[in-house]
Amino acid sequence: MAAPSPSSDAWWKEGTAYQIYPASFKDSNGDGLGDIAGILSKVDYLKELGIDIVWVSPMFESPQIDMGYDISNYEAVHAPYGTIEDMQALIDACHACGMRLILDLVINHTSAEHAWFKESRSSKDNPKRDWYIWKPPRDAENGTRLPPTNWRSYFSGSTWEWDEHTQEYYLHLFAKEMPDLNWENDEARQAIYDSAMRFWLDKGVDGFRIDCVNMYSKRVGFQDAPVVNPDVFEQPAWSEYANGPRMHEFLREMNNTVLNKYDTLTVGELPHTPDPRHVLKYVGAADKQLSMVFQFDIVDIGQGASDKYRFEEWKLPQLKATVAKWQQFIEGTDGWTTAFCENHDQGRSVSRFASDAPEHRVHSAKLLALMLASLTGTLFIYQGQEIGMINVPPEWSIDDEYKDIESVNFYHTAQKLADEKFAGDAEAIRREMDYVKRSIQILGRDNARTPMQWDASNKSAGFTDKPEGAWMRTHDLYPEINVAKQQDDPNSVLGFWKSMLHFRKAHADLFIYGNFRLYEPDNEKTFVFAKTTTKTTTGSGEGVSDTKQAAVIVLNFTGEDQTVDLPPADEFGALQFHVGNYTDTATAEDAGRQVKLRPWEGRLYLSSVATAVKS
Ligand code: NOJ
Repeated sequence: MAAPSPSSDAWWKEGTAYQIYPASFKDSNGDGLGDIAGILSKVDYLKELGIDIVWVSPMFESPQIDMGYDISNYEAVHAPYGTIEDMQALIDACHACGMRLILDLVINHTSAEHAWFKESRSSKDNPKRDWYIWKPPRDAENGTRLPPTNWRSYFSGSTWEWDEHTQEYYLHLFAKEMPDLNWENDEARQAIYDSAMRFWLDKGVDGFRIDCVNMYSKRVGFQDAPVVNPDVFEQPAWSEYANGPRMHEFLREMNNTVLNKYDTLTVGELPHTPDPRHVLKYVGAADKQLSMVFQFDIVDIGQGASDKYRFEEWKLPQLKATVAKWQQFIEGTDGWTTAFCENHDQGRSVSRFASDAPEHRVHSAKLLALMLASLTGTLFIYQGQEIGMINVPPEWSIDDEYKDIESVNFYHTAQKLADEKFAGDAEAIRREMDYVKRSIQILGRDNARTPMQWDASNKSAGFTDKPEGAWMRTHDLYPEINVAKQQDDPNSVLGFWKSMLHFRKAHADLFIYGNFRLYEPDNEKTFVFAKTTTKTTTGSGEGVSDTKQAAVIVLNFTGEDQTVDLPPADEFGALQFHVGNYTDTATAEDAGRQVKLRPWEGRLYLSSVATAVKS
């Protein structure tokens, strides 16, 4: 069934997107793992929530080394998830109720089990040898074999794996089972366009979230990365492989060859790109490369500078500056932005950015919802965020409960390094490992991957009927945090999200397209910002007039009462309270332009002032 019309870009600008992680969303057949039929059974739930665009994370055939981001066949579905026919039914069901569906496009690398790589590694003269990145070793001074560069992979260790059979190394920025494709090879690119893109676009998918979108073009000189940690050989190397020289050319080609023939949205995953001018190159409408990107500053908050899982304390001004920067960078340009703070690679936002303490977590979840729903750009929600799911408890053992290759590898590598560095000093080793574990507990990807909490009907939160439980441990708090409990309660986190999504669309000029203004950037306790828009209308008789509209959002990011000043009257005139995350808003007294906020309280005020009559 065809996608809903119209086909202007408004659908992907104004639509709210919802990310589904197939393994953990809903199991329909009792095997403990989520599946496509499970997603299909929740299409109505998504529609009712106010979702317009469903993003399904990889459901392709895969050995699941990295939860499906290691694809062995783009044109097949991971059998435990279902079939191509199931996917077609899901695409059609979304379209039938006016929603779009986008897939993950993972084309920086494949699985080592992909037929292309099997051929490539079979011999040096295989026609597909050059579809991947092969390099001879280099010799250390003492004659031992070294990888071609000192690059560190995202999942610990080197980015190079030695292949005994053909006596060369191949490149893998992620796991060794995920070899990088060689985008310098024309044939490889054409095969990617056919297999990973056209195959699904022809089935009706409406676009892609594009994995590692700035990593296809490597600096082909393959130089060593600068040494930031002299204790180890492998070094962070994104300067060498992110935003390489042919990146924009490749994206233009992808559009001209494939995407422009369809009505699609593309949202690129864009780490390691802090310069707004550079991001604008990717998202400017005139030079059609990507519809929008996920810039990483917001989800990088608290991550260690050289190692992700070395948590660094942060303060509210950092969050505010980050939000402001990636709101304002498109103002006056033809670019577009996204509003998000969760996905399958991140800890839960309530735990990271607010408070998951029992007395604060509901207000915290709603506070973040209020913030996000007021931001310009396409809004992305991650499964479970709409009910305020929180991080796993600190007691969970990394060895027993965590599944993610990234954090598990990091933990074991850190253990090895600590054993060497603090040899014999048990107390120092314990301290170091407590810190690493705490960092993983805050930032780890598994936090986002626990089964979706549907109800309290069984120990798997209604995610699966399998008596032994789900593939991954269910969050202990599912009896308190679940969909069934919130479904009919307008004051729940879910109820609040529903009404905020509705409110956002009703004031699209302000919230989806408006300009962003930050107040008191250095205040460490409260976050105050305004959204503004100017509408020009032709009245009967009195000519053309400009109406300036504004929303002012005041958020208390602490567990104590705070007072904030609303912007002065000469800025936006009278401000009227419209939405708050406390149910009893009447008890919060406002004295003039001062607002008293209770712990984690957020409020939204609207103004509407006719500012000028032109002629
Ligand atoms: C980014 C994805 O979001 C992440 O989950 C994955 O591990 C890597 N890219 C590799 O595909």
